[in-house]
Amino acid sequence: MNTAQLAVFMAAVLFTLSSHALSPEAEEGKSFFATCDVCHNQSNNPALGPPMWGVQRRYRKNTNSPEEFLNKMVSFVKAPTLEAAIHDEALAQLGLMPPMALPDEFLRKIVTYILEEQFPPPCDHWKMAVNKAKEKGDMAHAQKDQRQLNRFCN
Ligand code: HEC
Repeated sequence: MNTAQLAVFMAAVLFTLSSHALSPEAEEGKSFFATCDVCHNQSNNPALGPPMWGVQRRYRKNTNSPEEFLNKMVSFVKAPTLEAAIHDEALAQLGLMPPMALPDEFLRKIVTYILEEQFPPPCDHWKMAVNKAKEKGDMAHAQKDQRQLNRFCN
């Protein structure tokens, strides 16, 4: 094996080690995820929705099984209510999410993707949020997002 071949081989090994296999249903859901990413993309400035990284963490903490995660998220997305919302921070800043009247089968695939994906930490979003909070003089918020940056983005 020459150096170039070795490099290709190593890249393939690293890719295999780092890639994260999604179930077929999640793969399908991923192809529709743009419907949500329009607002939930962490690079949006200004933010139109909370980055999925944090949404997924909150739903994992607040549910006891993948099935409960799925049901809770699907029912929220179809008909968001203040009572059902658990993302207090996003709610306070952006208001309640508009309902997405999509067929259940379609939503379940998207949410299966959100359940399984390993989203990268939203570092661009936090950087932007720190600056915005500082501009507004909201030091508590700036410090909170700075801590997230220090913890996950170095
Ligand atoms: C028009 C913009 C927009 C679109 C499109 C959108 N969202 Fe949201 N989403 C928001 C906003 C704003 C919030 C934060 C307020 C809230 O929690 O209701 C949010 C919050 C959420 C939450 C957290 C709810 C909670 O418990 O507080 C989930 C889950 C979610 N979105 C899922 C989705 C999924 C899945 C899709 C695609 C099918 C989607 N969203 C499409 C704007 C959007």
